[in-house]
Amino acid sequence: MTIRNLQVKLPGASYPICLGVGARHRLHRLLTGRDAPSRLHVVTDERVWRRYGRELGKILDSTELPVATSVVPAGESSKSPRQITRLWRDILSAGCDRSSCVVAFGGGVIGDLGGFAAASALRGIDFIQIPTTLLAMVDASVGGKTGINLPEGKNLVGSFHQPRAVVMDLDFLDTLPRREFRAGCAEVIKTAAIRDARFFRRLETNCDAIVKRDPTALRQAVEACVRIKADVVAKDEKESRLRMILNFGHTFAHALEAVSRYRVFLHGEAVAIGMVFAARFGEELGYSAAGTSARLTEMIRAYGLPIDSRVGAPATLMRAMLKDKKRGRSGLRWVFLPKIGECEIFDHVDLAEVEAQVRCFVRGRQSR
Ligand code: NAD
Ligand code: GLY
Repeated sequence: MTIRNLQVKLPGASYPICLGVGARHRLHRLLTGRDAPSRLHVVTDERVWRRYGRELGKILDSTELPVATSVVPAGESSKSPRQITRLWRDILSAGCDRSSCVVAFGGGVIGDLGGFAAASALRGIDFIQIPTTLLAMVDASVGGKTGINLPEGKNLVGSFHQPRAVVMDLDFLDTLPRREFRAGCAEVIKTAAIRDARFFRRLETNCDAIVKRDPTALRQAVEACVRIKADVVAKDEKESRLRMILNFGHTFAHALEAVSRYRVFLHGEAVAIGMVFAARFGEELGYSAAGTSARLTEMIRAYGLPIDSRVGAPATLMRAMLKDKKRGRSGLRWVFLPKIGECEIFDHVDLAEVEAQVRCFVRGRQSR
C-alpha cells in the first residue's frame, strides 16, 4: 500500500505527515541528513513500549543518534504535573540540548504530554509525533495542541507547539483494543459531521468495514480526517475562531469526563455522548435541520459508541461546563450543526437554555 505524504501548511512551520502501512520506516529519512537532531528522547507509555519498544528502538538505532527513553504509566492520569516534571528532568539528565528532538510514541496522552515536554524544556525543542491510536492519528497528533491536566480541569496548562513531522503507521492499529478503536471512531464521525457531508455518507456506508479495520476503508477515513484537520489548523493555528469547530461535542464531553474523574469514559466515548447532546440541543433551539440529531445518533450507535450516560446530576454537569475553556464572555460557546457536514459557532448560548437541555438529557436517560 502506498504511503501518502500530506502537509500541514502554516506560516511559520509547515510539516509533513507520512500516512500508511509501514510509514514508520520513513523515520530514518526524517531524522537523518542535514537537519538531523543532536539526540533523541523517546516519550512513551508502558503498554505501547511493551508491545513496540524493541521495534522502534531498532529503527531509531539505525539513525546512529544517541537515544534515551522515558516510559510513563498508560492512561490519562499521566497528563499530570508530576509526569511533566519527571520528563523535564529526564530530558536534561539525558543530555538533551536545544537541537535535540523528542519522539512522542503512543496515543493522544503521550502526544499531549511529550509534546508539552518538548514545548517547554529548554524553552522549546523539536518533537516528532508517532501516534499509535486511531484517536491520536485522526485528531491529537495534528495541529500542535500540547498540554497536561490539573485537578481543576482538563488540558488547563499547555502550549501550541507544532511537531517537526507526524508519522502515522496504520500497522499500529492492529493491536489497539476494540474499545479504544471505537473511541477513535468518535473523532472520525465528528470530523465528517462538522465539515464534509460526502465523507459522512461514506462513513455510514463503510461502517462494517471500518469497524472490522479493513485497511483500505480505514486508510481512507484516516486520510480524510487528517486533510480536514490540516486545513482547519492551517487557517487558524491558534484557535482564534475557525478551529473552535473541532470542539463540536466537547463542552458536554469534558463535563462528563470531569464529573466522573476521568475514570468512566474514554475521551472518544465522552465525545460521542457530547455530540448527541449538542446535536439535540441545536435542533431544540432551531439552529439545526430536523432529523440531524437522529442521523448523527444512529451513526454513533452503529459504530458501537455510547449515546447517553448515567453520570452526573444536572447541577454538577453545569458546574463542570462552566469551568471549561470553551466558555465565552457571556454564556457558553457552542458548536451546532445546521445540517450534517456543516457547523456554526454560537458564542453566547444562554445558560438557562443550557441548563434546561441538561435537565432534559438527564430526564431522558432516567425514563429509559
Ligand atoms: P491514550 O493515549 O491513553 O491511549 C489509549 C490506550 O491505548 C492506552 O492504554 C495506550 O497504552 C494504549 N495503546 C496506544 N496505542 C496502542 C496500540 N497501538 N496497541 C495497543 N494499545 C495501544 O488515549 P487516546 O485516546 O489515544 O488519547 C486521548 C487523549 O488525547 C486525551 O488526553 C485527549 O485530551 C487528547 N486529545 C488531544 C488532542 C489534541 O489536539 N492535542 C485532540 C484530541 C484528544
Ligand atoms: N482537538 C481539537 C483541536 O485540535 O483543536
